[in-house]
Amino acid sequence: MSTRHFLTLLDFTPAELQGILDRAIELKRILRSGEIYEPLKNRVLGMIFEKSSTRTRVSFEAGMAQFGGSAIFLSPRDTQLGRGEPIEDSARVISRMVDAVMIRTFDHATIERFAAYSRVPVINALTDDHHPCQLLADLQTFVEHRGPLAGREFAWVGDGNNMCNSYVHAAHQFGFHLRIACPYGFEPDPDMLEQYAHCATLVKTAEEAAEGAHLVATDVWTSMGQESEQSVRKRRFSMYQVNPRLMDHAADDALFMHCLPAHRGEEISEDMLDDKRSVVWDEAENRLHAQKALLEFLLVGAR
Ligand code: CP
Ligand code: NVA
Repeated sequence: MSTRHFLTLLDFTPAELQGILDRAIELKRILRSGEIYEPLKNRVLGMIFEKSSTRTRVSFEAGMAQFGGSAIFLSPRDTQLGRGEPIEDSARVISRMVDAVMIRTFDHATIERFAAYSRVPVINALTDDHHPCQLLADLQTFVEHRGPLAGREFAWVGDGNNMCNSYVHAAHQFGFHLRIACPYGFEPDPDMLEQYAHCATLVKTAEEAAEGAHLVATDVWTSMGQESEQSVRKRRFSMYQVNPRLMDHAADDALFMHCLPAHRGEEISEDMLDDKRSVVWDEAENRLHAQKALLEFLLVGAR
């Protein structure tokens, strides 16, 4: 079989994705029990970061160490990637030396080009268009707190960005419905919305999206690479803040998630992360467990 990659949530079947979530919950239990489990002894993960990261870097690096393997941090600042070596050449070289490669970059086409020339699995650690690893953690967190995903109503409030796109894919793969509220001009791609009309609906206001929702999720108003638009975005997004009042429109047992880092006073109120409905710290921790399950699936096989 040809090399499997994880560039979006559509690269795996719903059953495979569910298996990864189940396994992530189990791997969390194993780690917490103190049991040593090293299925990736002597295996190496290459980590290419063209954008900043805290959670993604620490979770992949810690996950590989816990699994008995290791990770190499590569940035354009100190590799030939930053001096114009073609991505295809880099893929051919790096993938002959490591067992998997994780990439955080701008243009989604860059990771597709890398994957096309890679001998080993390539994992999307965020592009301008998708952030599938974060969705694994978000969905694991929801399942841990509230059980199955199918048939749920989720709300996305804010920018129609990479996270929003991955939520749409997740709705399709896991059988929940997503209501999306974005300011005019900041919605997800209309062609994508048409393709996923069966599981995702665009609504006008944050309140409409949140109404009765089992999960309300948001993200920064200005993503990495959009810094020059920051002041315009701050004005245009002001009606799309998630705060306890907005959460009161959601279901009684609703959860709040944010992939972090968060900007208190912008996309969330000062008190939102401390609200009893917020599960953001579990969500952040689950990056570790979900990605370990992903690495195990790609490098060892389904458990
Ligand atoms: N949520 C997330 O991807 O965080 P980092 O940018 O810190 O990796
Ligand atoms: N949408 C954000 C997510 C950061 C984890 C960004 O792309 O910067």
